[in-house]
Amino acid sequence: MTHRSTFVVVANRLPVDEVVTDGVREWRRSPGGLVTALHPVLQARRGTWVGWAGGTGPAPDPFELEGIRLHPVPLSDEDLERYYEGQSNTTIWPLYHDAVETPAYRRRWRDSYRTVNARFADAAAEVAAEGATVWVQDYQLQLVPAMLRERRPDLRIGFFLHIPFPPIELFMQMPLRAEILRGLLGADLVGFQQRLAAQNFVRLSRHLLGLRYVGQTIEVDGRQVKSGAFPISIDVKEMEELANDPAVQARAKQIRQELGDPKTVILGVDRLDYTKGIEQRLKAFRELLVDGELSVPDAVMVQVATPSRERVEHYQTLRVKVEREVGRINGEYGRVGVPAVHYLHQSYSRSELAALYVAADVMMVTPLRDGMNLVAKEYVAARGDRGGALVLSEFAGAATELKQAFLCNPHDPDGVKDALRRAVTVDDVEARRRMRVMQRHLRNHDVGRWAQSFLTELGAAWSP
Ligand code: ADP
Ligand code: G6P
Repeated sequence: MTHRSTFVVVANRLPVDEVVTDGVREWRRSPGGLVTALHPVLQARRGTWVGWAGGTGPAPDPFELEGIRLHPVPLSDEDLERYYEGQSNTTIWPLYHDAVETPAYRRRWRDSYRTVNARFADAAAEVAAEGATVWVQDYQLQLVPAMLRERRPDLRIGFFLHIPFPPIELFMQMPLRAEILRGLLGADLVGFQQRLAAQNFVRLSRHLLGLRYVGQTIEVDGRQVKSGAFPISIDVKEMEELANDPAVQARAKQIRQELGDPKTVILGVDRLDYTKGIEQRLKAFRELLVDGELSVPDAVMVQVATPSRERVEHYQTLRVKVEREVGRINGEYGRVGVPAVHYLHQSYSRSELAALYVAADVMMVTPLRDGMNLVAKEYVAARGDRGGALVLSEFAGAATELKQAFLCNPHDPDGVKDALRRAVTVDDVEARRRMRVMQRHLRNHDVGRWAQSFLTELGAAWSP
């Protein structure tokens, strides 16, 4: 018999990775902030996480790991192509990110999105106890709240969108627009990263469905649907501790040595995604080299670009463009044994990432649009009293909070160059002052507080 939980999280991915050590396959908890934040609640309530385990074909049986129940949902090859790569990552992802790449619309992707969302709703309905709280996550599952309410009107349903929510004009492009909006309105509380996104949502409800709202609360079929901004954060303490770990500090020193002991290490860490503004940042670096304001080996750049959604065409095109630009810069400005840009298309452990943050004098986070951007917050948390400078796009959600960063408009090449120039040349006292203010903010706004404020607003008892 299925165990039923009073607290259920539903997300496209399960927070676990399958690892094989000495031929033995096992599951490990993946390091994301969301699972860290929710772990105590999930553990105390014997909560269940419903999600895809990766891979295609039959899903593994439900299992338990570190006190959390994991309930895998299967995806077929066709689902992967149509629901995940198609509707989620070729229609919704680009559209919600200001259409910085052109979204594509296909009937068979929409059909698959419906089918897979229904599958997630069925799974959530199966594992949720009477009157349970169910928290649905992100753009892949926007139909789930309404589908779940239909199956289980007794549940308290929350939804949080991790990515931006677009303005009405853009949202209206989507053939699935009314269904998605009704899907979201199935929740009791719909949370966004930014106030503006929540405003887009309530206005859209009136525009598209003629619904009435007061403040951020929308009236739907006699129910009240609340919405609001809940900017997500990171596990600040974990990152601070990691960055202060002597092994990580030693590794950071070693990284600088391996880079040839430059005066300035400039770092970028992103999934290889066209929303992240990787090309824009490479261009700014190259132009400062052209102008002679920076020179190799005094200044080097490290760009970590995690492989992501590799079968989606936009991502393949981006990879070619980024790698061509890296090659061009290295061809013109590198020397034997000293490239100008160290480009790493790989995934790293948390401790290696922390070492990179500790090693970097300047961190470049230049997305064209980003719901939040946790890398920016991780860098700030990792710096301690070591100064360092953050170049941050105004179009990242994080810019609302990290105001002491060197803010720039990534669409304006001179603006990015100027911010990078100021970050490279900022004096130490000023750099530390800025970093301290941002650190104070983060300590008071970590991911635990984020989860707590959402669940409190949802009316779910937070304390386990
Ligand atoms: P997104 O969610 O769009 O990928 P965020 O910056 O909000 O962007 O979150 C990315 C997360 O992935 C961060 O926690 C970051 O540390 C992690 N990450 C990014 N690049 C790598 C990498 N190469 N290896 C391991 N983790 C990475
Ligand atoms: C963003 C999205 C998440 C997604 C993650 C990684 O953070 O908001 O929902 O899980 O990117 O992308 P992937 O497609 O590999 O799950």
